[in-house]
Amino acid sequence: MSNRTFTIIKPDATSKGYTGGILDQIIKAGFSVKALKWTKLTKEQAGEFYAIHRERPFFGELVDFMSSGPIIAAILEKENAVADFRKLIGATNPAQAEEGTIRKKYAASVGENAVHGSDSDENALIEGDFFFSKLERF
Ligand code: RTP
Ligand code: MG
Repeated sequence: MSNRTFTIIKPDATSKGYTGGILDQIIKAGFSVKALKWTKLTKEQAGEFYAIHRERPFFGELVDFMSSGPIIAAILEKENAVADFRKLIGATNPAQAEEGTIRKKYAASVGENAVHGSDSDENALIEGDFFFSKLERF
């Protein structure tokens, strides 16, 4: 069990002004920020980040969306980080997300669902390395 996970505040949420509210909820839930970046992905970078979904029917839509505007990338630390963060964000489809979760509050649809959360310790490491150099994290 690792104590780190990785998140992205997605373009829908940054463009709607939800960034502050989402970061506040993450920090109040006990996560500490170990790296933070405001950036924007090219289509190619978005495709590389979500390469695991390359064969899925929604891949093109996902890449277009994730490269459509600025995002916030962050590495977060907390005991049981990956599982606890997935619980905090709620189900992929906000219609199925529990009350009070970030996706329930801020997501519009299964495609535009406000936040990303790593699904395993291994992927949390890979995803953190995708966005941050050694100098940008502590
Ligand atoms: P994420 O990786 O972004 O944290 O989301 P997740 O684990 O909850 O869901 P995942 O299955 O990994 O899907 C990645 C993202 O692809 C988009 N998606 N669209 N149109 C669709 O049916 C569909 N299904 C998934 C979502 O933006 C999802 O977060
Ligand atoms: Mg996923």
